[in-house]
Amino acid sequence: MFATGSRALAATPPMGWNSWNAFSCAVTEEDIRSAADRLVETGLRDAGYEYLVVDDCWMDDELDDGYLRPHPEDFPSGIEALAEYVHDRDLKFGIYSSAGRVTCQGYPASLGHERKHARQFADWGVDYLKYDNCGDHEGKDALARYSAMGKALAKVDRDIVYSICEWGRNEPWRWGRNAGGHLWRATHDIVAKWSTEDTEFGLGIADIIDQMDDRDIAPSHGPGGWNDPDMLQIGNGPDSGQSKLEDVTVERGLTPAEERTHFSFWCLFAAPLMAGNDLVEMDDRTLALLTNEDAVAINQDPLGIQGTRDGRLGETEVWSKRLTDGRCAVILFNRGRTPATIETTVETVDMSVDAATYTVEDVWEDDEWQTSGTLHATVDPHDVALFRVSPE
Ligand code: GAL
Repeated sequence: MFATGSRALAATPPMGWNSWNAFSCAVTEEDIRSAADRLVETGLRDAGYEYLVVDDCWMDDELDDGYLRPHPEDFPSGIEALAEYVHDRDLKFGIYSSAGRVTCQGYPASLGHERKHARQFADWGVDYLKYDNCGDHEGKDALARYSAMGKALAKVDRDIVYSICEWGRNEPWRWGRNAGGHLWRATHDIVAKWSTEDTEFGLGIADIIDQMDDRDIAPSHGPGGWNDPDMLQIGNGPDSGQSKLEDVTVERGLTPAEERTHFSFWCLFAAPLMAGNDLVEMDDRTLALLTNEDAVAINQDPLGIQGTRDGRLGETEVWSKRLTDGRCAVILFNRGRTPATIETTVETVDMSVDAATYTVEDVWEDDEWQTSGTLHATVDPHDVALFRVSPE
């Protein structure tokens, strides 16, 4: 059913940048051009962040004979020219639509026009489609709506990564691959907070970490098809992106420890890594976090395993995932409000090889030591230790 070679797409979790978390609906083609330039200048592209995705609000108010048109004031040069600008910088270009009549911000979308729009995307040079769940569904269920676009994309003569954004409502981990998807949102919208109240919009980092494990979805995750806990909020303070939307009034922002926890878990989950911060304003700490080679290598490990929770003790937790070459990534996580010493052993974590000695690489402390089996660290509140453990 799908084009030959499409399974080689997204063999490791896609990495890139998306406009939504920083710019929300105010995005323009100038923002996208600057983001492309910054991905190159900052070294993010060379660290692996290759997809540059324009989220909602790039389109005009009306369809034209069923086709999508770029917004005349915000995207005056058109999408083809923008994709070319992005490709000229050795990046890949992504775009957004919705499996409904309109997008989440009320712009025309693709339900009922899947073939036309897939052809249009391919002609424009699109390499990645984020496909949302807003607008009238006209009585069609999620599988029907998402498969219609999956089939349309498979028919065009271009490899397009298909990112299903259905918010985890209808358990897309069960049908995402069959719908042609390469990744599917497993959880609701992320906000730049530690956790949210039930009455607030979106989910905080700690809420998403819990849901990724509680939903027991790790078995459906792997090369070519990824559970997506949403895009990164690293580097997004209280004034960024979604905070500008009218219905969002709560305070935002993560501490440096919380940002480290956010990134460490997205690496342990082998989650798609879509940076979501304003790259022009980015500080050195944010860049260092996003480009840490060992953390990114844990994320991009070819086995593509979604790490899971091994145990809890009070407010401390141990999580791990197997890596290639008999290695293992481990997170010691402190949810509490005071520093905690967390200890575990190689028998507890997902370590497949027995050895007399193991080398422990501490990713954030840039330190290394040997152990016969005990793993421990003192971890600050809302922080983690991230280890890579190798049998000797
Ligand atoms: C939401 C989606 C967000 C963003 C937004 C755009 O449904 O989860 O990631 O794309 O729509 O309006």
